[in-house]
Amino acid sequence: MRASKIVGLGHYVPEQVVTNEYLSTLMDTNDAWIVERTGIKERRWMNPATDTVGNMAAKATRMALQRANLTEKDIEFIVFATITSDYYFPGSGVILQRELGLEGIGALDIKNACSGFIYALSIADQFIKTGMYKTVLVIGAEIQSTALDVTTRGRNTAVIFGDGAGAAILQASDKAGVLSTHLHADGRFAEELYVKDPGSSRPREERQPEQFLDTSGFKVHMNGNQVFKHAVVRFMEVINEALAANGMKKEDINLLVPHQANLRISQYIQEKLALRDDQVYNNIMRYGNTTAASIPIAMSEAWAEGKMKENDVICLAAFGSGFTWASALIRW
Ligand code: COA
Repeated sequence: MRASKIVGLGHYVPEQVVTNEYLSTLMDTNDAWIVERTGIKERRWMNPATDTVGNMAAKATRMALQRANLTEKDIEFIVFATITSDYYFPGSGVILQRELGLEGIGALDIKNACSGFIYALSIADQFIKTGMYKTVLVIGAEIQSTALDVTTRGRNTAVIFGDGAGAAILQASDKAGVLSTHLHADGRFAEELYVKDPGSSRPREERQPEQFLDTSGFKVHMNGNQVFKHAVVRFMEVINEALAANGMKKEDINLLVPHQANLRISQYIQEKLALRDDQVYNNIMRYGNTTAASIPIAMSEAWAEGKMKENDVICLAAFGSGFTWASALIRW
């Protein structure tokens, strides 16, 4: 059976490093609180003069293409996961397509927040398995710093989220690569982690410019406790589902690359799966939570550090806004 394989990984993060100490000058918070609750030391924020979601994704793509020894012209389709596209519409897929000079090829946007990259990977995998495409570019990229409330009112989210982009090139292969993907959602919790505006649910009379003097609807709202409680349960469920579907046990996992939501969540999963420190890749300390970008950035770094070797079983898992959650099991 035709399978799909990741043949190249790349990433890009903005140059501007934002430390916990710097955030403490903007809001009532401190390094000790942030590190203890989230594990984050610093994150990256975009530079409005140079960074867009589209061009960060293009930089990540070029790194992935170079590592795969491919060129832009090899890409037949783009699946782009983001909740922070450059415009409200159109989505980021077309912007990236333009950046790469690939006019004419299809581009699809996925808005599944922190699970977005695995959803995107799953879609690309299906397109390759059916024979529709041979080479698909899968992206997770976010600029979240512009939607954060960086006052004390927004401190529970402002300290968590960061900006960045990751890319994976998926190609048809006769050897196993992506073994399975499992995708889930529960919309009953949609408002536990969301940005309300500019949603169409806002009536016309509330859309007058003066109404937008209250811009809180444009900021990230998160019920952190609810998210945490559901995340630890769903992460485990969806990883176990992936293992069971492939007749594997937790001992078969060589490397877990979890969505970088919160270091405490990753540590909880690590303990449940009885994995050693070197079997779980975490970089949330340096980048914060970059939503759809976190898994491909982490994979790109893990690959560069030689942590993904031929034949290894790599497990990806994510949980986030929606709520949505997902896993992928990959034979490297
Ligand atoms: N600095 C200092 N104090 C802060 C703070 C900050 N950045 N953010 C919140 N606090 C305060 C709260 O105001 C609250 O104060 P109070 O007790 O006087 O009311 C106190 O810390 C505890 O707040 P709480 O929200 O209960 O903290 P918590 O232990 O749940 O930790 C999170 C908050 C956000 C770190 C935690 O809930 C979490 O990580 N949740 C999951 C988030 C996540 O993974 N999101 C991404 C999903 S993809």
